[in-house]
Amino acid sequence: MSKLKVGIIGNGGIANSHMRGYLALSDRVEVVACCDINPEKADEFAAKYGIKNVYYNCYDMLKAQKPDLVSVCTWNSAHCECTVAALEAGCNVLCEKPMAMNAAEAETMKAAADKSGKLLMLGFVRRHGNDAKKALALAESGELGDVYFAKASYLRRCGFPGGWFGDKSLSGGGPLIDLGVHIIDLARYVLGRPQPVSVYGATFNKLGARDNIVLERAWQSQSKLVKPVFNVEDLAVALIRFDNGAVLSVETSFILNLKEPTTEIEIFGSKAGFSFNDFELHTERGNELADVKLYGENNFDFDRDFNREILNFVDAVEGKAPCIAPAEDGVTLMKILDGIYESAATGRSVEIR
Ligand SMILES: NC(=O)c1ccc[n+]([C@@H]2O[C@H](COP(=O)([O-])OP(=O)(O)OC[C@H]3O[C@@H](n4cnc5c(N)ncnc54)[C@H](O)[C@@H]3O)[C@@H](O)[C@H]2O)c1
Repeated sequence: MSKLKVGIIGNGGIANSHMRGYLALSDRVEVVACCDINPEKADEFAAKYGIKNVYYNCYDMLKAQKPDLVSVCTWNSAHCECTVAALEAGCNVLCEKPMAMNAAEAETMKAAADKSGKLLMLGFVRRHGNDAKKALALAESGELGDVYFAKASYLRRCGFPGGWFGDKSLSGGGPLIDLGVHIIDLARYVLGRPQPVSVYGATFNKLGARDNIVLERAWQSQSKLVKPVFNVEDLAVALIRFDNGAVLSVETSFILNLKEPTTEIEIFGSKAGFSFNDFELHTERGNELADVKLYGENNFDFDRDFNREILNFVDAVEGKAPCIAPAEDGVTLMKILDGIYESAATGRSVEIR
């Protein structure tokens, strides 16, 4: 059987993870083209991986190469345009998180996918971790009882990724849309994907980029802006209420005066609670409190789980597996994020429809 042809749009940092995932499937797919509006990035990426066809805008690439699969790895403000262009050109698309700048763009993308009949998958890589799979299985088994509360934190002390991540016109926002999107999606996934009904949120920009501090950062954009800006929030907190009565509390920062950075999700049910970090059930036996440690591989591994995401994309396109992160979940996430930003701006709780 001939290999599926892949094109990668946006050739910065995360494009390397997509590329590694496709290389791991080299018996089934071939990356035939790449493109970036920054010619240096496109040329460098093509040379690094021996990609034969290089373009400086996605329209030329889509027309000339007609890829079967496209990864959209641009900054956030180009996700909608590039995804719609690829779907209209008849490609299946894996678009990085966040799906878009806002829910209106996300709905435009989903409509383009529905019209084309092609797959639009979201880069919710955390859904592919062992922790996500085990947590979902636990919640579905009923062992946790009625799950009614969850807490999700993704807090960095000094973790502004630089470049476009601080420019609202390119990113759509700060840590909420960049980091919060991962943990809100993951918590909602484990809760059984309930529909959000209302949100209350607050955002702050008190500390800015903190780029005077010299240290190795968690993730750095490879794009250098001519005039760097930081006009996004540095901290966001929110409460999200779902239609099954469950509530999710979220906190996420690029910059915050805390001691240790944390990434944690805690799920609380009527029979037991547990956290992603220790994978221990907190419950009771007889008249005593009991903690039950779950041993085994309960972790999220960035490289391994990126490869799983790409595998799921290719499998889903070939009809060998259901897509784990469909477009409708991206639209729901963007509605939650829009609601939190609106609530932060108005000081009121916002209903989500
Ligand atoms: N899944 C994850 O864990 C994860 C991790 C990091 C980044 N991301 C996401 O990946 C995306 C890219 O982030 P990054 O860190 O690689 O950024 P980056 O700055 O390193 O690279 C982005 C590239 O996109 C290019 N670009 C912008 N508009 C374009 C367009 N219209 N056509 C072609 N190229 C275009 C830029 O020139 C740049 O080279 C973002 O949406 C980000 O949120 C996801």
